[in-house]
Amino acid sequence: MRAVLDFCLVFFTLNSPGVLSLSTHVAIIYPQDPVLRIGSNLTASCWIHPELGVHASSLFWTLNGQQLPSSIYRLLSPTNLSVTLAGLNASRQTSGDNLVCHNHKGHILAGSCIYVGMPPEKPVNLTCWSRNTKDLTCSWAPGGRGETNISTQYKLKYKLRWYGTEKQCDDYTHTHTRTQPYSCSITQDLHLFTPYEIWVEASNQLGRAASDVITLDILDVVTTDPPSGVAVSRVGQLEDQLSVRWEAPPALKDFLFQAKYQIRYRLEDSQDWKVMDDVGNQTSCRLAGLRPGTVYFVQVRCNPVGIYGSRKAGIWSEWSHPTAASTPHSERLMCDSKSSGDSNSTLRRELKQFFGWVRKHAYGCSSMSMKLYDQWRVLMQKSHKARNQVLQGDKS
Ligand SMILES: *[C@@H]1O[C@H](CO)[C@@H](O)[C@H](O)[C@H]1NC(C)=O
Ligand SMILES: *[C@@H]1O[C@H](CO)[C@@H](O)[C@H](O)[C@H]1NC(C)=O
Ligand SMILES: *[C@@H]1O[C@H](CO)[C@@H](O)[C@H](O)[C@H]1NC(C)=O
Ligand SMILES: *[C@@H]1O[C@H](CO)[C@@H](O)[C@H](O)[C@H]1NC(C)=O
Ligand SMILES: *[C@@H]1O[C@H](CO)[C@@H](O)[C@H](O)[C@H]1NC(C)=O
Ligand SMILES: *[C@@H]1O[C@H](CO)[C@@H](O)[C@H](O)[C@H]1NC(C)=O
Ligand SMILES: *[C@@H]1O[C@H](CO)[C@@H](O)[C@H](O)[C@H]1NC(C)=O
Repeated sequence: MRAVLDFCLVFFTLNSPGVLSLSTHVAIIYPQDPVLRIGSNLTASCWIHPELGVHASSLFWTLNGQQLPSSIYRLLSPTNLSVTLAGLNASRQTSGDNLVCHNHKGHILAGSCIYVGMPPEKPVNLTCWSRNTKDLTCSWAPGGRGETNISTQYKLKYKLRWYGTEKQCDDYTHTHTRTQPYSCSITQDLHLFTPYEIWVEASNQLGRAASDVITLDILDVVTTDPPSGVAVSRVGQLEDQLSVRWEAPPALKDFLFQAKYQIRYRLEDSQDWKVMDDVGNQTSCRLAGLRPGTVYFVQVRCNPVGIYGSRKAGIWSEWSHPTAASTPHSERLMCDSKSSGDSNSTLRRELKQFFGWVRKHAYGCSSMSMKLYDQWRVLMQKSHKARNQVLQGDKS
């Protein structure tokens, strides 16, 4: 199947076993390699050299290996047989569909690649970002229904707003971590403090279209690498907390940036992330109100702020790779599950209330309240252990 589909790529360079060893002008298909719009009609003809001694009425056509019915053939002359395809479908592949003329034994006499697609539509969603002000990468999406079904080129063009000459981005392979099929990176001769005009031009053999022009200053679209060295650890025996530490991206030291961070975390078996966005510019933070004896995944990302004194925030980096850690098992819960009579005790209600209070008031990274909270927890655990011992003592 694959071999048949790829036929158009190799037709004129290879002699596959089914191809008669004929010189090039023994049979010819007109038109050769046409490019057509979806839904259009095509009449192609297969002309055979009279010296071959073959009558055109004995020939047959195939499209992508499928024989076409003789009802759509027309005998134009003893050496010329046409076929008419109405309402052409999109090419199955950008390398074209194979229209082939065969003799009565099935041998291939001639072939033509048919490219059926649409002109490109105006590209959309052009967005750009600069990694540490060292480059400018833009990505976009093809307009309309997307694929044109024929080979289409995209060119990212740009110029400095007031006095620049039009330039073309030529690094379409440089994809960084924001992998995008439609993207290009400008890595040389970048100007700061001067707005750029940027747009995308799409073209193929059926037409061309340009995106809207966007205007931006590199300093307004700065992003960085994600924070590195993210480490998650337990906070002593506190069963509902984890401590997260990380390092600022190295570029922050080279440039006049500050940074703010965001943390998100989720249960091992859940897809719902909880985001803490009030971390500020600290490089460590405490997560509280977690489930005991549970694995959590944690990620951190960074946003450069105050770039060269600019008041605007940058663009959030990618999230760091997830780091996992588990909270300690709760002695209390294990006891509770054994003695369910204890589960509605006054103490448990108090605990619940306090959890609620903590979530409301100590959410974030305020170290003052965290300290108080830690103290309270240690105190509570001590008194709780004492109680459980009493309870267990009662039962035995
Ligand atoms: C294709 O041919 C059909 C008749 O078979 C005709 O009705 C139709 O208008 C043609 N379409 C185009 C795009 O020429
Ligand atoms: C075969 O017929 C088609 C359609 O009439 C014509 O365009 C083409 O020139 C003919 N080929 C030859 C070699 O006569
Ligand atoms: C287009 O696709 C439809 C459905 O697959 C098929 O019936 C029709 O024959 C195709 N048209 C052409 C010109 O290949
Ligand atoms: C043509 O492109 C569209 C996307 O716009 C795709 O859904 C469709 O499968 C393609 N057609 C063929 C025959 O590959
Ligand atoms: C363009 O962006 C808008 C809004 O973000 C989104 O809804 C749309 O799907 C995007 N279009 C394409 C083709 O990606
Ligand atoms: C964090 O921000 C405060 C002001 O909000 C600033 O004084 C301090 O220098 C910043 N620290 C770092 C490490 O950037
Ligand atoms: C605990 O109390 C709640 C409501 O106060 C009740 O719905 C639940 O059934 C009780 N559980 C036990 C194990 O008694």
